[in-house]
Amino acid sequence: MIPLEPLTKRKVPAQILVCNGCCCGRTEKGHPPVPVDWLKQEFKARKLLRKVHLTIAGCLGPCDTPNVVCINFAFGSRWFGLITEFWQYEAILDWASASAESGALLPLPAFLAAHEMEVLLPAASNSAMLEMERASTASAGSQYLIQQSKS
Ligand code: FES
Repeated sequence: MIPLEPLTKRKVPAQILVCNGCCCGRTEKGHPPVPVDWLKQEFKARKLLRKVHLTIAGCLGPCDTPNVVCINFAFGSRWFGLITEFWQYEAILDWASASAESGALLPLPAFLAAHEMEVLLPAASNSAMLEMERASTASAGSQYLIQQSKS
């Protein structure tokens, strides 16, 4: 049954998005592999389900910095590019395991600092985009209402 409000009981302190899209992990394009099977197996073996979300994603956007990992927190997202070595994925899962065991988010692995990148436009640009988006959504909404009233 679909709930009436989008309230979830499956809350976690962090979600790790590992890109395995059109560029990240595409060895045929000359990019380093993403250890998808290992990540899934290890995630289960470490019993991280429902403690941290692991999402193997399609293209996350910044294809020019393969391989990409994004970690979402309640306070925002952190984006990392050029995650090219197996040990780096292992370190990210080690961090997730240690955080889950301690019951608190621990500092991210230090190596990630050199891989962090900005993916979203600064807030000033975003607010202009949001206004445009709101205007087009409102316009689309009125078109929908007009169509509904005609039928
Ligand atoms: S394929 Fe990974 S960011 Fe596009």
